[in-house]
Amino acid sequence: MANQLRMQGFANAQDQAQLFLTSLLALSQQPQTFSSLAEAIRHWRKNAPKVSFAHQLSFFNSPAFIKKLAQEKKLKHYLQDSISYLFVRDLDLDLNQAEVASKIDTLAEDLAKQLSPSNDPRTTAANTDMMTQGFLWAIKHQAESAFIWLSAKIYRLKQELPEALAEHQGLRKLLKVVAGVLMNSWQSQGDAADFDQAIRLGYYYGLTYPLIDDLQDSQVLTPAQQQSFDQALEASILTGVVHKPTEQTPWLTYVFDELAEAFTFIQQQQGDHFEAFLDQAYIFLKSQQQTSGQLWLDMINKSSRSRILADALVSNQVQLGNYQYFGLFNQLHDDLKDVELDYQEGNITPFVALIYHNQTYQGIHPYKLYWALLHHLIYHCYREDPKIKQLLIKRCINSHKSLLERLGKEPFLQRLQQLTQGCPELDELQQALLTTLEMPLEMAWLDKFFSTQLQEQLQQDKAGELKQRIEGIQAQIKNLLPLPADNELEEAGNYSLAAGGKYFRGVLCTLYSQDCLNLEFAAIAPVIRFIEYMHTASLILDDKPSQDNSDLRRGQPTLHQHLQSEAKAEIAAVNLIFKAVEVHAGMGIFKAENLLASLEYASQLSQKICHGQWLDLDSQGKTLSLEALEEISLKKTAYAIESALVLPAILAGQPKQQLARLKQYAHHLGIAFQIKDDLLDVEADNATLGKPAQLDQQNQTSTFVRCLGRQGATEQLYRHYYQAIEAVREIPNSQALVQIASWLVERQN
Ligand code: IPE
Ligand code: IPE
Ligand code: MG
Ligand code: MG
Ligand code: MG
Repeated sequence: MANQLRMQGFANAQDQAQLFLTSLLALSQQPQTFSSLAEAIRHWRKNAPKVSFAHQLSFFNSPAFIKKLAQEKKLKHYLQDSISYLFVRDLDLDLNQAEVASKIDTLAEDLAKQLSPSNDPRTTAANTDMMTQGFLWAIKHQAESAFIWLSAKIYRLKQELPEALAEHQGLRKLLKVVAGVLMNSWQSQGDAADFDQAIRLGYYYGLTYPLIDDLQDSQVLTPAQQQSFDQALEASILTGVVHKPTEQTPWLTYVFDELAEAFTFIQQQQGDHFEAFLDQAYIFLKSQQQTSGQLWLDMINKSSRSRILADALVSNQVQLGNYQYFGLFNQLHDDLKDVELDYQEGNITPFVALIYHNQTYQGIHPYKLYWALLHHLIYHCYREDPKIKQLLIKRCINSHKSLLERLGKEPFLQRLQQLTQGCPELDELQQALLTTLEMPLEMAWLDKFFSTQLQEQLQQDKAGELKQRIEGIQAQIKNLLPLPADNELEEAGNYSLAAGGKYFRGVLCTLYSQDCLNLEFAAIAPVIRFIEYMHTASLILDDKPSQDNSDLRRGQPTLHQHLQSEAKAEIAAVNLIFKAVEVHAGMGIFKAENLLASLEYASQLSQKICHGQWLDLDSQGKTLSLEALEEISLKKTAYAIESALVLPAILAGQPKQQLARLKQYAHHLGIAFQIKDDLLDVEADNATLGKPAQLDQQNQTSTFVRCLGRQGATEQLYRHYYQAIEAVREIPNSQALVQIASWLVERQN
């Protein structure tokens, strides 16, 4: 029964879209429509705010633009305009209501503060990362756990989803949906909004959106998988109970498991309204599938549903409002912008049909419709409200300006000609438009800025800039370590040292010493040798049959395997420890009192590491509490990482306060390092790791994954990652320390 009603709902939505389309067509038959817009554009031009700089489009989506606005004290105004537009488009709000205006003002004020480049060098390090910004925001709004939860979900998606989907910006879209739901929630409930819930709802709903949207285009599914996916999704939305596709792949299984979680969560939140939510989701799905043969109607319905659904999630009611007009308005903008791209990918949009095939799409001229829709929005929906009118006109000018910039002048004029061919009624409008395109204007909108930043950050390996520097340091460290090799004992040590590894601790030591202590690599070379000898010794011992019993380390047989003797491996490890002590005692370039203090520190720390390994062995087979897990990884892993920072700091005579900050950073970083190590044990394979995967499972080691599950462990990974970044913000010139934390989270081995 519900199924019939839901199908009927789709049919009704098509009828409604048809009415809307018919009225737009009528409007586009009247020449008056276009001449009044021409007049409106001319009027807009007269009153347009002057800007002091003209730039390439890419500039307007870069942090440099925000900085420039802030310097010129125009940031708040820009944000007000941008937010106003978002509020009208995505939330269907009335800008003339005092309450709405005050909300825009508050939000613009808050954002301006958060985005303004600070004069304090300490805070700049973390500011550039969108997710870190999000975390700071979440702390302020009591949504920290949900934000960490979301970070962990995205981490999993990045691993589970095929790369082709990432290319289609699926993750960015998902985060955009989350932001949309948050905005909805904030506008309807103000600061009392439950952001924690909104983040979760946003993810669960957004999970379906990028997939439904992108799976159709990305060609990651075979035709058979595609069909079974469509059927499963349709059956799920029709019944409200998740049906799995018959054709499975591991990631599809993951997605449908998440979808089942999503249904349960949304249903819990929405109660009876869940059915109405599904009605809209069904309309979305059917129009996405484009099986009705009514391409315009599908376009109208599809483009509006994402907003209607986000609204329905928060308000528990379905409101069509102006969403359908804005949906189409946006879609036409996108299609106008993406003509070449769509053509190359084989998508037939109305503009592709017009430009490449010289045909109108089902008899409807898209460019005329585009302007008729602008007219409808300005004069019908908003009854010529001056504020909205100027925003809407600016939106259209912006999009033409960016087209001009992208195509170049001649091809752009040619494009305009193609768009207006055979439509003399558009002449006047076109002239008016062209005069505005010569003006220097600030372009683009806040959502575009965020979205560009986010996509760049999601796509690039986060610590991209740092990567080369790390590789250089690794090569230097590798040369530094070999023992003289006068005998088999030393050769045994070299066997483990030369196999490499990441030299994470040595790299960390170098980054900190160079950036924050102004020390040359040569000056800290002995410190690096000390750290890496101790570390390698600890691994040789850790791998012994009596401990973790591992056959593989750094891509080669473990030392006891290689020597065919556990006893000799043990002696080689102890020998490395004494070599480390020798090197340490010889660090004569530092003040004697600092050297002495560092010896005491290093010995105390090494004892803590021993205790960590002891506790680790004791915990086998147990399910530990989070506190106990943290204590063990603090001792067995984080202290060694701490020493990479604190040793050079002590040697260079840094004040206590600095040491305390470093320790705080290192503890979180170290625990994060161990959690990632535990995760890799279940996620990666021997070849990538250079050590046996799934060994922890075999040994029943009490890892974070064993005790908390993958999602839980990943959440803890992010908790410590964000906290590490927070701690290091207090240290001047710590950009590289922030970046290496991202590198750690993303690392594959
Ligand atoms: C492994 O350390 C031991 C842990 C503390 C988890 P690494 O992952 O740094 O090992 P290598 O030095 O790169 O081989
Ligand atoms: C080892 O931890 C920590 C120390 C060597 C002090 P793990 O046992 O998890 O390290 P892997 O996984 O063997 O590298
Ligand atoms: Mg171990
Ligand atoms: Mg081990
Ligand atoms: Mg391990």
